[in-house]
Order: sequence, then structure tokens, then C-alpha cells
Amino acid sequence: MQSFGPSLWTLDGDDVRMFGVVPFKTRMTLVRLESGGLWLHSPVRPTAERRRAVERLGPVAHLVAPNLIHSLGIEPWRALHPSAKVWASPAFNRRHPDIVVDSVLTNDVETPWRDEIDHCVVEGHSVLDEVVFLHRPSKTLIVTDVIQKHAAAGESWFWRGVKRIAGILGRGGGVPLDIRFSVRDKAALRRSIDRILGWDFDNLVIAHGHCLQGGAKDDVRRAFDWITRA
Ligand SMILES: [Fe+2]
Repeated sequence: MQSFGPSLWTLDGDDVRMFGVVPFKTRMTLVRLESGGLWLHSPVRPTAERRRAVERLGPVAHLVAPNLIHSLGIEPWRALHPSAKVWASPAFNRRHPDIVVDSVLTNDVETPWRDEIDHCVVEGHSVLDEVVFLHRPSKTLIVTDVIQKHAAAGESWFWRGVKRIAGILGRGGGVPLDIRFSVRDKAALRRSIDRILGWDFDNLVIAHGHCLQGGAKDDVRRAFDWITRA
């Protein structure tokens, strides 16, 4: 468990294979709400050690599946904390019809944590189904897959090469090439990105790779300049 900011932590999870092939490191983000309950974003699988680390911070109140891919920890954490509420991205249930979702994270849904955490559905994309969050007290943007900065260390030369070409290697990584090539509605996507860039944030937490303490607004603006300048 790593403290990232006031009432904000990250916890690294298992290594996974995206599409069954590409090696990915995973990370969950935790917020302790003013109510005292924990908000778990993209929860990783709960080992005994992870469970102890999480429960030391407070009771698990909300489980957030921020896109249709990140489903791994939702059911296992709910089994441990049946009163936790599950929130999921708009298309999540189409891919995971067996996972019961309490509330879908549309742009206009009223969340009990809206004074502390804002959210924005990234629209205009044919595959991506991602909800991006702003943790206001720590001025931190919380992103899942739409920005990736995979660490080069420990990676094979082959996957380093692939990730470099895909634009997601190292601290300078950004929006994956496959996402850039599958935009459905540029204007809608631009509106979403403009809204996110209008938020007050300095820091960036992502699910895959290097996070940023400070300077995140410029970094995120750079990551999206292919769409905002298009
Ligand atoms: Fe991911």
C-alpha cells in the first residue's frame, strides 16, 4: 500500500496478460471518503495481505469498475464486503452480464461521493468504455487505460519494442495507438477531453505504469494533443 496524497493510496496487483498475450502490471487506487468508507477503483484481486492492508484503512464502501475490461477484483471484494456498492462503466455489463452492478457510471448519475470525486465518461470511442475520475482533495486525475506509461525495467526487449511503438513505454507514454486509431466521433471525444482538462489537477494515477506527482496537467494535455489539435 503506497500513500499517494491526502486520503489517497495505490496498491499494486498481479501481473496480467492483456488479450492473453501482452504483459501488463496492474494497480488499484483507493480513496478514503469523508464518510470514512473506502472507494476502490479498479480493484486488484484480494490476497490475504492485500485485504489486511485495505481493511486497515477503513470499511470497503464502493467498488468501481472504470471500464469494461477491469473486472478482476469486483466480485472477490464484494464477496468479502457484501454491503459494498458496485459502480461500473456504461458498457461493463454487456461484457460481464453475470456481475451485478448497483449503479452505472453515466455522466449524470448522482454519486454519493460527488463532492470529493468527479467523474467523466470518455465518449466518442468505439471500443474504449472508460470513466476518468478527479479526486478533488488531492488534485489527482485517476485514469485506467486511456493513458499508459509502462515501466521499461524488467520488460523483455520484444515487449519494450512493442510498447514503444504503441506509445505507452516509460514516463513519456500516453494514449495507446490502438485507442487513437479507433475513435468513432472526434468531436465527442474532444468534448470529454476538454472537460477533463478543465478540472483542477496536478497529479496523475494510472493503472498501468508510472504515476505523476506534480506536472500532470501538462502531461495529460500533451497525451491528448493529437485529438485536441485535430
Ligand atoms: Fe487496463
